Amino acid sequence: MTTLYAKKNGIRVAFCLLIFLPALWSAPQEYTEEDAPGPLSPAHAKSVGLKNCMKCHNEDFEVPHSRCLACHQEIAQRVAEERGYHRDKGEECSMCHTEHEGEDTVLVMLDPEDFDHEETGAVREGPHALVTDCRACHRKDNTVPRTGSISYLFTRTGCLACHTSPHPGRQDLCLKCHTQTSWRVDHWRRGGRL
Ligand code: HEC
Ligand code: HEC
Ligand code: HEC
Ligand code: HEC
Ligand code: HEC
Ligand code: HEC
Repeated sequence: MTTLYAKKNGIRVAFCLLIFLPALWSAPQEYTEEDAPGPLSPAHAKSVGLKNCMKCHNEDFEVPHSRCLACHQEIAQRVAEERGYHRDKGEECSMCHTEHEGEDTVLVMLDPEDFDHEETGAVREGPHALVTDCRACHRKDNTVPRTGSISYLFTRTGCLACHTSPHPGRQDLCLKCHTQTSWRVDHWRRGGRL
């Protein structure tokens, strides 16, 4: 069984070499910055570099989402866990994220004045629904680091993304005892068990 399989594979390898070797002999196509429609956004000009075309493109100059996700683990993780804004947008990144317009590239096209927060899947209750300033919650110190902007992606999950616990050790279970409206625990005040 094993030998038969190995033999089959051997034949396959030989066949592939026969087809692809001539392609290897001719010099590989080198793309230069002149082949690009324009300079990259500042964020990617620095982190990726225009000359590294294949970090984002395949041979046909399509933009496979796997290329973007290879670097953007913060998005890949959310897509895999089906949470956050990108939970159902894991493909076709370039449908929304443009490139090659230099400083004018609109890499993140979110207008805080016109954003339906329900799209993120987050349910905000009580005092949370009343806060209008995005940056009261999505702050530089609790999100993924960015050079030229502030991310919306929290580095911690649950209540601890924004609140600290006065009684550490209970970690993610805040909602077992509290609500989004109040830290008061009435039955505990009445002498009940936690
Ligand atoms: C940071 C990722 C990134 C890098 C690096 C990059 N590109 Fe692009 N490129 C894109 C994206 C995203 C699009 C799609 C833009 C759009 O639809 O607005 C695109 C579009 C293109 C297109 C147009 C394709 C079409 O079908 O319309 C060409 C051609 C192209 N890039 C060439 C290049 C070349 C050549 C390089 C290297 C010198 C390069 N790109 C480097 C992200 C990149
Ligand atoms: C009261 C706090 C609060 C305010 C104010 C707030 N958000 Fe959020 N936002 C959240 C929470 C909680 C989540 C869910 C995070 C998670 O799933 O881990 C979230 C998620 C998001 C996400 C998705 C992040 C991801 O992981 O994919 C985006 C985008 C976002 N918010 C944008 C905004 C914008 C734009 C505003 C202002 C118009 C805003 N938020 C105001 C609490 C807030
Ligand atoms: C339907 C449009 C759409 C698609 C498709 C999409 N995005 Fe986004 N993306 C957005 C919007 C809107 C934001 C701003 C909200 C946010 O930050 O989560 C964003 C934000 C981002 C950010 C910055 C997040 C932050 O706040 O730090 C990254 C990185 C990103 N997208 C990568 C990707 C990748 C990779 C893909 C493909 C797997 C993708 N996006 C597909 C619309 C889209
Ligand atoms: C080689 C790694 C790499 C590749 C490939 C890459 N990115 Fe990025 N991208 C980064 C880094 C690093 C940053 C953050 C730059 C900074 O803030 O300094 C960034 C920034 C961004 C931002 C802006 C985030 C913000 O809030 O400022 C978006 C949106 C984004 N990338 C989407 C994409 C998409 C879509 C693709 C595929 C076409 C892609 N990236 C390919 C490394 C990469
Ligand atoms: C994205 C950030 C963020 C997350 C996540 C978050 N909160 Fe809040 N929370 C706020 C902000 C902002 C306020 C209003 C400002 C303030 O009073 O501190 C607030 C207010 C509150 C209040 C009222 C505070 C008071 O002093 O009366 C309670 C109670 C509360 N949050 C509980 C929770 C619980 C429980 C969770 C987890 C289910 C949670 N929060 C998750 C940002 C957040
Ligand atoms: C097993 C129950 C339990 C869990 C789980 C729990 N707490 Fe508490 N917490 C309490 C009790 C009891 C009080 C006192 C309530 C009162 O005075 O009515 C309290 C009080 C608080 C207060 C108010 C402190 C003050 O000085 O007024 C905050 C803030 C708080 N908790 C945050 C958290 C956070 C954040 C988490 C999750 C990481 C959490 N708690 C998980 C039981 C719990």
